[in-house]
Amino acid sequence: KRAGKKTKIIEMMPQFEKPTVHMRDPERVEQIICGLIKGGASKLQVITDFDMTISKFAVNGKRCPTLHNVIDNCKLVTEECRQKLLQLKHKYYPIEIDPHLSMEEKYPFMVEWYFKSHSLLVEQRLEKHKLPEVVRESDLVLRDGYEQFFDRLHQHNVPVFIFSAGLGDVLEEVISQARVYHPNMKVVSNFMDFDDKGVLKGFKGELIHVYNKHEGALRNTDYFKQLRDYSNIILLGDSLGDLTMADGAPNVENMLKVGFLNDKLEAPCLFSKPVTGGQLLSERERNLTRDACVSEMWT
Ligand code: TMP
Ligand code: MG
Repeated sequence: KRAGKKTKIIEMMPQFEKPTVHMRDPERVEQIICGLIKGGASKLQVITDFDMTISKFAVNGKRCPTLHNVIDNCKLVTEECRQKLLQLKHKYYPIEIDPHLSMEEKYPFMVEWYFKSHSLLVEQRLEKHKLPEVVRESDLVLRDGYEQFFDRLHQHNVPVFIFSAGLGDVLEEVISQARVYHPNMKVVSNFMDFDDKGVLKGFKGELIHVYNKHEGALRNTDYFKQLRDYSNIILLGDSLGDLTMADGAPNVENMLKVGFLNDKLEAPCLFSKPVTGGQLLSERERNLTRDACVSEMWT
């Protein structure tokens, strides 16, 4: 009888009925959602990735840019530099999403990619005041429903932590232009460091790449400590590294981990019992698997 009652809650949410939504253990998801509902807005916080999670992966089959790509593709960057950045992407992106490598194995390659790519950007002497125009002219698109999502969270004072291995300045410009950058939101990302003439000279703070979000999360323990009473978490991401974004939260009651499966749908990053290559997941990665995945190519 109890089980019957339980399934009803998920059945009442048409989003979960979609064929593109996968749940390893629907009962568990149900339990978590019940916990989230019970706690209400005053106990809820959202921790989310940005690229390919808040922004779209593709539109009509055409790939959309990451925050980095907004700069790579802009008119401020020379053709030579663009080609070099493209070569880096061709070398390192396949490593980023390779289902046969562990996060530990990918880690040094990501550091290499970011180091090379950020050095190229610094060489271009980008000017801060040109960023709004570059963002306006870019093809970056936010997922359908972003406005309602962020406005609702703002309305109910739900803290939103956007944790991106992209470029913070571009990110803030994107969500400002989309008119969804509200005071309940905090952006942690790679922020550019400009000289007194507004020319890019480097990056501030520790580098955040796709597979060191755990370390970044721990550096933000002060933020999470302040939110101690917000013990219900919705975690959104697309990469396995995103599963560590809540590692700084000291007091978790219910956490719903949602993964957007954009690329390599056959990858063993679905759940703890992956379709293929499960033995390749390390013990740590096994413990980090998601509760629900959305495999739709959101267009
Ligand atoms: P995310 O953590 O917000 O998803 O952002 C990181 C993405 O940015 C990740 O998929 C790698 C990508 N990236 C580029 O597209 N170009 C680059 O030059 C670098 C360093 C990263
Ligand atoms: Mg991402």
